[in-house]
Amino acid sequence: MLLEVTVKWVILFFLVLVGGQLHPPAPAEYRRLPPLHEQAEILNRWTSERIARIPLLLQKYGVDAWLMCQREHAEDTIWWSIKNATAYDVHRRTVVLFHTNTSSLQGQPNPLVWVDNTGQVWTDLHNRLAAYDPKRIAVNVDQNIAFSGGMHVGEMRVLEEELGPKWMSRMVNVPMLAVEYVSDKVSGQIQYYRDMQEVVWAMLEEGFSHKIIDPGVTSTTDLEWWFREKMLTLNVTTWNHPRIFVTTPASFPGWAGSDDIIKEGDLLHIDFGITAMGMNTDTQHLAYVLRTSEGETDAPEGLKAGLKKGNRMQDIVLENMKAGLTGDEVLQRCLEQMKLEDIEGQIYSHPIGDWGHDAGAVMGFTNFPEHVPVLGELPILPNTYYSIELFATHFVPERNETLRFLLEENAYWNAETETWQFVRGRQERFHLIDQRKRESTIPFNVQ
Ligand SMILES: *[C@@H]1O[C@H](CO)[C@@H](O)[C@H](O)[C@H]1NC(C)=O
Ligand SMILES: *[C@@H]1O[C@H](CO)[C@@H](O)[C@H](O)[C@H]1NC(C)=O
Ligand SMILES: *[C@@H]1O[C@H](CO)[C@@H](O)[C@H](O)[C@H]1NC(C)=O
Ligand SMILES: *[C@@H]1O[C@H](CO)[C@@H](O)[C@H](O)[C@H]1NC(C)=O
Repeated sequence: MLLEVTVKWVILFFLVLVGGQLHPPAPAEYRRLPPLHEQAEILNRWTSERIARIPLLLQKYGVDAWLMCQREHAEDTIWWSIKNATAYDVHRRTVVLFHTNTSSLQGQPNPLVWVDNTGQVWTDLHNRLAAYDPKRIAVNVDQNIAFSGGMHVGEMRVLEEELGPKWMSRMVNVPMLAVEYVSDKVSGQIQYYRDMQEVVWAMLEEGFSHKIIDPGVTSTTDLEWWFREKMLTLNVTTWNHPRIFVTTPASFPGWAGSDDIIKEGDLLHIDFGITAMGMNTDTQHLAYVLRTSEGETDAPEGLKAGLKKGNRMQDIVLENMKAGLTGDEVLQRCLEQMKLEDIEGQIYSHPIGDWGHDAGAVMGFTNFPEHVPVLGELPILPNTYYSIELFATHFVPERNETLRFLLEENAYWNAETETWQFVRGRQERFHLIDQRKRESTIPFNVQ
C-alpha cells in the first residue's frame, strides 16, 4: 500500500517535472529576483552571449554586415536587445555596424560603434566600409515586421546622402536576421523566467481569493489595480495593463475589461503580464466565485468541462508546434485535429521574450483565425519562448449558455527533449473565491 502510494507520487512528480504540463502541485511563492546590480551583470552576460552569435547569424542569412543608424529617442527596435543593462536611450547619433569578422575587420570590435554629433562618423564609416568591402549590408527597413523595420526614415535619408549610391546599392532587407536575433534565447534565462512565472502564479493565487475579493463589493477594476500595486511591491513592472472581466457569452474579445462588481457565481477572466530582467510574461487564467450562500463548494461541472476542453487545445498546439513549419501550417494542423475531436475554439498564439509580443511566427490572430498574412508565414524557430493563447467554446448546461474559456500559458523550447513545455505547468483547476475562508482575514477593501 505504502509502496503503491509512493510509486504514484514518484510517477506524478516525474510527469510534473518532465511533462511540465500539469497544474503545478504546490502553491506558488513570491520569488525574489536578484538585487539590481547583480541583475545588470546577469543581463550583460546574456547580451554578450547573444551578440557573439551575430557573426554566424549574418553568415546564415547570407549578409556581410548589419548596419543600424539611430538618434536619441528614435532608436532602432534592435537597440533594446543589444544595449548594455546600464544604457537606456542611445546617445546623440549612434551608428552600429556588425560584421562577420572574417576579413580585414578581424580583430576589430564587433560591433563597431560610433557615438557622434559632428559628422565625423561618416568619414570613419566610409573608411571601415572601404577596408571591409561588404557585398551585402542588412538594414532594418522591412515594411511589415517591426523588429526588422526599426530604422527611422530620417536616418535612412541621412545614410543615402552620406554613403552615396555605391554603398546604398549594397543595402538589403533580410527580415529573419532581426527576428532570429531577438527571439533566440540563451540558456541562463530560463531559471529566472521560471521564477517570474512563479511570481505570476503567486499573484493569481492571492488576487483570486477571498483575501482580495469580497463578492458584492470588489469590482473587476479594483482587482486590476490591486495587480498593478502588487507588482510595485514585488519589484516587477508590466508591459500591458491587467484586464479582468466577468465571462459572459458576449465577452470576446472583451479586451477592454469591464467595471463589474464581482458576484457569486461569476466566472472571472484575467489577461496580464509582468516585466523583469529584460523578459516578459503573458498569462490568462480563470477563477470562479463560489455561491457559498447556497452551500456550493466547487465550480459547476459544465464550467470544469470547458476548462478541460481548453487544456486539450493546449496539448494540441504544443504537439503540433514543430520548428521549421510556418505558423500558418501549425495552425492548420491544430484546426484539423480540433475538428477530428469535435472541439470548437480559436488559437492566437505568439512568441514572447524581450517583448510581450516578441519577434517570430504567430499561430493565428484574434481577427485572423485561419491564416495570418506575413507573421503567420514565418517559420517557427526552436530555442524561443511562446505564449500559447487560445479559447475553447463550450456549452455550460447549468447556465444554459455557451462560453469561451480563454487561457494563456508560456512555453519554452526544451532542447533535450526537442519539445515545447510550459514553464510552470498550466491551469487545470479554477482559482476559487471561497468566502467561508474570510472570517479570519481582513478584507482588502474594507479598512
Ligand atoms: C556593459 O558595460 C560594462 C561597463 O562598461 C562592460 O564591462 C560590459 O562589457 C558591457 N556589456 C555589454 C553586453 O555591453
Ligand atoms: C573577432 O576577431 C577577433 C580576432 O580574430 C577574435 O578575437 C574575436 O573573438 C572575434 N569576435 C567575434 C565576435 O567573432
Ligand atoms: C524589492 O526591492 C526592495 C529594495 O531593494 C527590497 O527591499 C525588497 O525586499 C524587494 N522585494 C522583493 C519581493 O523582492
Ligand atoms: C436556454 O436558452 C435558449 C436560448 O437562449 C432558450 O431558448 C431556452 O428556453 C433556454 N432553456 C432554458 C431551460 O432556460
